[in-house]
Amino acid sequence: MVDLRLPSLRWAEPPEGPVLVLLDQTRLPAEEVELSVTDVPGLVEAIRSLVVRGAPLLGVTGAYGVALAAARGYDVAEAARSLAEARPTAVNLAYGVRRAVAAYDAAGGSGERAAAAALAEARALHREDVEDSERMAAFGRELLGELLPGGRYRLLTHCNTGALVSMGDGTAFAVARAAHLAGELRRLWVDETRPLLQGARLTAWEAARAGMPYSVQVDGAAGSLFAAGEVDAVLVGADRIAADGSVANKVGTYGLSVLARHHGVPFVVVAPVSTVDLATADGAGIRIEQRSGHEVTELAPGVSVAPVGAQAYNPAFDVTPPELVTAIVTDRGVVSPVDHGALAEVCSRSRSYQSPSGNGMMGS
Ligand code: MRU
Repeated sequence: MVDLRLPSLRWAEPPEGPVLVLLDQTRLPAEEVELSVTDVPGLVEAIRSLVVRGAPLLGVTGAYGVALAAARGYDVAEAARSLAEARPTAVNLAYGVRRAVAAYDAAGGSGERAAAAALAEARALHREDVEDSERMAAFGRELLGELLPGGRYRLLTHCNTGALVSMGDGTAFAVARAAHLAGELRRLWVDETRPLLQGARLTAWEAARAGMPYSVQVDGAAGSLFAAGEVDAVLVGADRIAADGSVANKVGTYGLSVLARHHGVPFVVVAPVSTVDLATADGAGIRIEQRSGHEVTELAPGVSVAPVGAQAYNPAFDVTPPELVTAIVTDRGVVSPVDHGALAEVCSRSRSYQSPSGNGMMGS
């Protein structure tokens, strides 16, 4: 299999001291440019400006950020606070930060030994992320086979969920790619995902590299695809999943879930259990990141599409209620139907869980 993984992020140790090297996602697909980050304020800025983005990758980034602060002798507690708050919705970020801080504290809370422990934990999370992608791809592909016997799917996706958001193949995109490799993908419908075009810029780029049959459409065209019977399933990722199964994902996802229900099309969310936040009871408790209005009023920096002074509404995410979600595919199996008990049960499974049927399905 062709390895499409890009080093979205890597740890390097030049003579000047450790750095985090990030693939600058804001420059894709035009340019593949790396950005070296030497301190936490620089990393926080890279996270806020979406140089590095996507829930699983943010978790790994947060952990490496703590390791960077520790290795360079910065105040680790302060670094952890600012990293965890850099973006509020993707729960993986705070999760990754917490894990590295716990390892640092357990190793004495200062000095080289503690710094090495934080780095080891970041590397462990990195490895887990690769494994999680593989497991989600396998569980997701089997689920598609059960929901849509016969194969040759037309899948619609939103935003970007591939290797760019992960140290592995990603979440929803990893399932679509697994289907493609098995000869089961007829077409991947890629929402452009305004305002920042993660679909058109990043998912289309990943699909092209993978040799997948795909088309990009404006977000508003999705409805006509459903109406024409051109969508067999929706596959999306998640930035935070509340205890009741409410899913926060890139703005526009909720509308797709309503369309999918109206047209009787399965709506499938793919995310590792590290994206599940059992401490948040429901969707109302999820803080939605509000971003600058210029992302809406400009097509690209300096290319305005609205009158000067236009006000803009720019939530980065929306929330899909559990009753509109057919299934949540995690790295520990599939939750379907989606409810609090089933989600909590899957989260409590071991990392190496295999269901007796081999497919990880709840209640099957
Ligand atoms: O604002 P972004 O680009 O970081 O948004 C995150 C996303 O890419 C999506 O919401 C995605 O589905 C979740 S991450 C796999």
